[in-house]
Amino acid sequence: MHPSSAFQLVFGTSSIKMAFGRLSAIVSIALAATQVANGAVTKRVTCATGHVTVNAACCKLFPIVDQIQRDLFDGGECGEEAHSALRLTFHDAIGFSIHGGKGGGADGSILVFNATELQFHANGGIDDITSRQFPVFQETGLTPGDFVHLAGAIGTANCPGAPRLKFMFGRPPPVAPAPDLTIPEPTDSVTAILARFADAGFSPREAVALLSSHTIAAADVVDVTIPGTPFDSTVGTFDTQVFLEVLLKGKLFPGNGSQPGEVLSPLAGEMRLQSDFVISQDRRTACFWQAMVNDQERMVTEFRDAMAKLQVLGQKNLIDCSDVVPVPKAFKGPIKFPATFSRKDVQVACPELPFPNLATVAGPAPTVPPVPGS
Ligand code: HEM
Repeated sequence: MHPSSAFQLVFGTSSIKMAFGRLSAIVSIALAATQVANGAVTKRVTCATGHVTVNAACCKLFPIVDQIQRDLFDGGECGEEAHSALRLTFHDAIGFSIHGGKGGGADGSILVFNATELQFHANGGIDDITSRQFPVFQETGLTPGDFVHLAGAIGTANCPGAPRLKFMFGRPPPVAPAPDLTIPEPTDSVTAILARFADAGFSPREAVALLSSHTIAAADVVDVTIPGTPFDSTVGTFDTQVFLEVLLKGKLFPGNGSQPGEVLSPLAGEMRLQSDFVISQDRRTACFWQAMVNDQERMVTEFRDAMAKLQVLGQKNLIDCSDVVPVPKAFKGPIKFPATFSRKDVQVACPELPFPNLATVAGPAPTVPPVPGS
């Protein structure tokens, strides 16, 4: 067959009747296009909704994506729920070991075995998003694992600059809660954090890549007096700002003094996690951290690839339905120092790597506002 020719696959009259009779069903499988890239053939299917995907099994997800956007993310916002949906994917999936003996990984156990997993200290504040997600999850009919990891990919896509995360479909229901003490805490040492990531199959470089997530993150429970306190000054954009701001000299605590897991922050209204800071300064990770500063492309590529591993920990035989994930708006940069800050305020921990030249935002030093709805 010529690569560019399009044709219709016929699956007999019963499927044709189903296609035209019940629009909600997965329908006429039309091979709308056949593309040849690097010798690989990609088939495409047009769903009843008009969406195009590589696998007919993904068609049922498009209406669910709209539903999740509407019922969970206020019509497609990069707000508190989107941030928390990403955090939830991590807390769900990381309960896994490549050596066995821990949980089922990216299986949604955190959503349905919440009575157990929400007791874990590291899951402080997670109850907000599990209780927001639960009724929407029930409406969709997805398995808990598919729901948690689809919602995480969609929520992330709502943030300008984010990569379009993959979504693999078909996780079976979880069989048991994950055990406690699998989720790193901000009070942990770099050695303990890297050991936990390694046990789940991630290198130090991938651990840093995953921490790109903290560019759309805020803390509710590190200091309960200041819920929604962001980790960087651009919490609604998936940019490299967090990698810069964690390196700036700290001078204040944004709320009720020093809390466990918190270290001095450079900006009023901003929270700095101890774990982010020690990882930014440690010889094993400092150069990976610094290399992210103002390198949007590196960050999104490494984050997407590390997330692709995280989202399927412990899973097998999944169908690639990544094309149901919305395409995020672009952010090109460059990023800037927050007002009044410059190169002299950077605590460089990787001197062998040139530090990028960045402009400074004009005006007085900002007070970073909390994330609404926290
Ligand atoms: C060393 C590993 C990590 C530690 C110690 C850590 C710790 C934390 C802490 C303490 C918070 C604030 C919780 C609160 O007070 O409400 C937080 C928020 C967050 N974390 Fe992490 N985290 C780690 C890795 C990750 C990873 C790998 C991801 C995702 C891939 C992630 C995504 C997020 C997000 C998106 C939030 C913000 C949630 C919101 O704003 O509602 N974190 N993290």
